[in-house]
Amino acid sequence: MIWKQITEKNLEMVVEMNKVAVIGSLNIDTTLEVVNFPHPGQTVKAINKSSTAGGKGANQAVAAARSQAQTSFIGKVGADQQGKFMIAAMQEEGIETSGIKVEQEAGTGTAAIMLDQRGQNSIIVYGGANSYLTAADVQAAAPQITAADFAVAQFETPQAATIEAFKLAKQNGVTTILNPAPAAKLVPELLGLTDIIIPNESESQQLTDIAITDLASLERSVAKFASWGIACSIITLGEKGVFYSFKGKTAKLDAFKVKAVDTTAAGDTFIGAFAAQLLPSLENFVTAIDYAQKASALTVQHLGAQVSIPTVSEIMGSIQLRRGS
Ligand code: RIB
Repeated sequence: MIWKQITEKNLEMVVEMNKVAVIGSLNIDTTLEVVNFPHPGQTVKAINKSSTAGGKGANQAVAAARSQAQTSFIGKVGADQQGKFMIAAMQEEGIETSGIKVEQEAGTGTAAIMLDQRGQNSIIVYGGANSYLTAADVQAAAPQITAADFAVAQFETPQAATIEAFKLAKQNGVTTILNPAPAAKLVPELLGLTDIIIPNESESQQLTDIAITDLASLERSVAKFASWGIACSIITLGEKGVFYSFKGKTAKLDAFKVKAVDTTAAGDTFIGAFAAQLLPSLENFVTAIDYAQKASALTVQHLGAQVSIPTVSEIMGSIQLRRGS
């Protein structure tokens, strides 16, 4: 592991060349900007429309690569132009893509995103080829997973594929990070294979049945994860910050205060940047959270998913950011 000083003024250090394997989704995001979200039965006009590269898995991989991680991706696209576009987008980031398979039975995944003027979004995801990722596809990419420091997965690809990936990871001393998004019922086997869990508030609530209303409920939520054998957890709270549990210590960190234009991929940026900057010994857990919070504070200030994910120099240069409650 190499630690590198990035500027003379900024004496913080960044971790270089963590190996991160992401198992997950690739989507083409079509974003429609609206003044207000339509109610059921209502038609509203969009102010703007754009199509960009997205998908929770792909976004997390891009965030990791832009934060200095040697990143590989395991996933599936359709045999279409969008699939080619997604693979090319990943390769441009220097991401290793031999683990991306082409599915003949379904097209590349798609997300329809509605974005309002307060920067809030509503997303509908059509899984397409992502839903066809199998344990055998993951096995074919075993070398990328077993050579990694961290294996990262979400819920936009089948949990059977994630279980296979996390089994390979655990057998080879690779730390596993699960982002249970979008919220879904968790296959119990996955619990025993997860080292670090990173849900948002609603995903945490769906998993634990504990509504997050205050610090006490956050404490109870991370205690529940710990009772399932997941000692390290981070609950992301959007503009309210994050709450983490690490080595028996829990704490809430406020978010950096910024004006959000589009929160799409903010959580993905957090996870990718965190995996890129966390030492395999986990000893810099809180520093890596701080770095990841800065990264997502930059993402929300721009439109779109992957286009808005910052690079390591942009994150380390963001010294003007201040926390606020
Ligand atoms: O987390 C944001 C992502 O969720 C978008 O890029 C979209 O593709 C959906 O998967």
